[in-house]
Amino acid sequence: MLRSVSSKRSFSVASRLFANKKHEVVVIGGGPGGYIAAIKAAQQGYDTACVEKRGRLGGTCLNVGCIPSKALLNNSQLFHQMKSDAKGRGIDIDGTVNINVANLQKHKDTVVKQLTGGIEMLFKKHKIAYYKGEGSFEDTTHVKVSPVDGLEGSVKEETVLETEKVIVATGSEVTPFPGITIDEERIISSTGALSLKEIPKRFTIIGGGIIGLEMASVYSRLGSEVTIVEFQPQIGASMDGEVAKATQKFLKKQGINFKLSTKVLSGVREGEVVNIEVEAVKDGKKEKLQADALLVAVGRRPYIKGLNAEKIGLEVDKRGRLVIDDQFNSKHPNIKVVGDVTFGPMLAHKAEEEGVAAVEYFKTGHGHVNYNNIPSVMYSHPEVAWTGQTEEQLKEANIKFKVGKFPFIANSRAKTNSDTEGFVKILIDEKTERILGAHIIGPNAGEMIAEAGLAIEYGASAEDVARVCHAHPTLSEAFKEAAMAAYDQPLNF
Ligand code: FAD
Ligand code: NAI
Repeated sequence: MLRSVSSKRSFSVASRLFANKKHEVVVIGGGPGGYIAAIKAAQQGYDTACVEKRGRLGGTCLNVGCIPSKALLNNSQLFHQMKSDAKGRGIDIDGTVNINVANLQKHKDTVVKQLTGGIEMLFKKHKIAYYKGEGSFEDTTHVKVSPVDGLEGSVKEETVLETEKVIVATGSEVTPFPGITIDEERIISSTGALSLKEIPKRFTIIGGGIIGLEMASVYSRLGSEVTIVEFQPQIGASMDGEVAKATQKFLKKQGINFKLSTKVLSGVREGEVVNIEVEAVKDGKKEKLQADALLVAVGRRPYIKGLNAEKIGLEVDKRGRLVIDDQFNSKHPNIKVVGDVTFGPMLAHKAEEEGVAAVEYFKTGHGHVNYNNIPSVMYSHPEVAWTGQTEEQLKEANIKFKVGKFPFIANSRAKTNSDTEGFVKILIDEKTERILGAHIIGPNAGEMIAEAGLAIEYGASAEDVARVCHAHPTLSEAFKEAAMAAYDQPLNF
């Protein structure tokens, strides 16, 4: 809650604004887009400030997104392996293996605290002024920082920063589901799902996108009976079609239930349960479900509340995104916009790339983000990772392509690790044999996708990759073999 604004606008006389402080660059928002932009700006020699109202740096990603979710994913997988997989590997565990939810949360909170604290240290190192409060536009060269009630370290009174350049990185928030009230206890968003105090026996998720699937993985490993209700006939949002189907198959094998092409009509908490009504898209057949927790995961939307964007005429499109040109400029060239609050995939590394490029545009007039090569990773087990084009995109663009695939069952390291689910799929241009896309389901796919990214960025052909000596025995040999399969033949399959 914002503290009520005092009427002491002593720095505003007639139409001219007086500033309490001056900085060359002011960044609004301290998430991956904003904090990286601030560090880069300071490294470029700008006197830089960052305004953040959360009380901690790192934004959604570090506080209620990437980092806490990965802590839960990693530890729930460890638990699952110890419980279900250890014996067959020759590891006898005396006594029972149990989950201690309080300590699981404690571990997650410790990691988050360390990482967000780390950014504060980086700010100090780079002499970045950090204002804890809500940033809003007074005009195109003045950002007002308002105190936030109850926020430790908040600015005590309204502070006006005069600046030449502004970078807006205010991020995104959970998209609400019309008619369903999130209480973060029984009906939860991703934020609530990261902090549950007990494991729900029956866990229903609306949305089979990345959040839905990652949280389904966590809670099914911890013992919940998980059902995903997805409106589309396919899960996985922007995944390659074949990969999405294979992903659903392995998640189903892990015990997750799917209701695809199904519309949620209502979700109502009654005491300790949630009653949900759903309807089949095809024939309108209705069904009633009951759950101990219901997760709403139908996407995120850009966040500009309190920014006063309208005061300076910043354009907003139909989806609520701040409109920019290809150099991140809003209609005012001294105000650039990066991250979830504008176009493109809502991913932390995309926001970071943009933060760097925006500063470079300010400094040199040149910057670079390749939107055709932004990796996505879903941190299930096995992981699902992809970059570049999907088969569907290539077909739609009428680009002729060849496919090379290699299964992990034929990879010696995967076999040694008894972790053989999945495959590498590489799409190459039919004529030039350049790599156009890579799609991996497999152990550590999120690490392996970096090789595809590098190959695509440097315009490598499948043969270029296949002729690079890959260490043995490693999972990365599957990537090399898939490249061979794309232009010739694999050796080990
Ligand atoms: P944000 O991280 O949202 O940061 C914006 C910041 O601006 C916030 O801290 C907010 O408090 C602040 N702010 C807003 N308005 C103001 C204002 N007026 N004044 C001051 N401060 C303001 N992405 C990945 O790449 N990998 C993942 O594994 C991943 N996992 C995720 C898991 C979950 C559960 C969720 C919800 C998201 C996940 N994401 C992941 C997405 C990722 O978190 C976002 O894409 C990323 O955080 C966007 O960065 P950003 O800087 O644009 O915005
Ligand atoms: P999403 O856009 O990935 O998926 C939302 C899903 O909900 C879609 O499949 C959609 O068809 C479905 N849906 C929408 N309305 C529905 C309805 N009425 N009924 C049933 N289903 C409905 O959004 P999600 O999962 O909420 O994630 C938000 C963002 O966070 C994504 O953009 C994602 O990139 C990011 N994220 C990234 C992660 C990663 O990189 N590992 C992890 C988690 C989130």
